[in-house]
Amino acid sequence: MADFYKQFLKPFLFSLDAEQAHYLTFFLMKWGMKLPFYEWITGSLPRQDFSTDIAGIRFPNPIGLAAGMDKNGVLADLWPQLGFGFAEIGTVTPRPQAGNPRPRLFRLPEDEAILNRMGFNNDGLQVIARRLAKRKNRDFVVGGNIGKNKDTPNEAAAADYLSCFISLQEHVDYFTINLSSPNTPGLRSLLEKEPLQKILEPVQNQNFKLYKPKPVFLKISPDMAAEQIPQVAEVCKTFGLSGIVATNTTISHEGLKTTPELLGRLGSGGLSGRPLATASCRVLKALRQPDSGLILMSSGGIMDEQIALQRLQDGASAIQIYTGLVYQGPALIKRILHQLKG
Ligand SMILES: Cc1cc2nc3c(=O)[nH]c(=O)nc-3n(C[C@H](O)[C@H](O)[C@H](O)COP(=O)(O)O)c2cc1C
Repeated sequence: MADFYKQFLKPFLFSLDAEQAHYLTFFLMKWGMKLPFYEWITGSLPRQDFSTDIAGIRFPNPIGLAAGMDKNGVLADLWPQLGFGFAEIGTVTPRPQAGNPRPRLFRLPEDEAILNRMGFNNDGLQVIARRLAKRKNRDFVVGGNIGKNKDTPNEAAAADYLSCFISLQEHVDYFTINLSSPNTPGLRSLLEKEPLQKILEPVQNQNFKLYKPKPVFLKISPDMAAEQIPQVAEVCKTFGLSGIVATNTTISHEGLKTTPELLGRLGSGGLSGRPLATASCRVLKALRQPDSGLILMSSGGIMDEQIALQRLQDGASAIQIYTGLVYQGPALIKRILHQLKG
């Protein structure tokens, strides 16, 4: 059945503008997955129990949907039907925002990659919190990936993260603080020690007032200097974070098969998919230390079941997928689960 996606749906979707294809896919999922025979298209899932405890939460399995695919949480109840054990909703910002002008999402098929400069387009905190409050499947794990509005100056960023945390705390199972998108100007500079402390401290002060504090992760960039990685990990430990999501997209365009002329025409953006795998894995390994106390989620270039399993063997407790789903379709999740079954 892989191949209903690869043979029929993908060629059609890839003939459309990438962002239009995204919305059409969401429409098809919303209505198509109500049909009794949708499993015929997506393939049936192994019935085995893959559940695992991560940061005190029971995850149905360690394969997650990465942030950015369901920015507004509109399909939060449907992702488990594709086999995902969790989905990270967002990035959510306090106020709704339109993101960058279109076109802002491009496929690079020769590289099995995506280039995007979406710029945190989302419905805003209040609408998304109300939507998540209505979700039905409470066994499924939902993470809230939170960010700052584009027009919030970096000096005021901490207040944006805190208000996202407060409004979503009842509606998500864990949080990811996103300081690593390349598409919000200056955001990545908040990963420096001092601004990072200023953002994490108020969130964690609020969090530790809760009867049951939420696991909080920090999502980092693959473009950080090697020396910065242990420094960021240290700050995360100091503020009692549960772990790190490594990594977001890269601004490096090195070694691509896509021609420099085409890249020049497409313009700036973060690169995801196959070419990101090496950098993402390098950051994962740099973070891996048995006594660090930090839980690692790996994201970046997980395009097949071998890479998925390797990340879990390399120290990730969970993995997150975006671009692999676009190129391989839902069969990828099923194949990873079969591989996990061993
Ligand atoms: C179109 C697009 C939008 C994204 N938006 C977000 C986002 O809003 N927040 C975030 O933390 N990551 C975002 N990401 C990054 C993904 O969550 C993921 O970390 C990255 O794409 C690497 O994984 P992949 O190679 O499996 O795609 C986005 C990625 C893509 C392709």
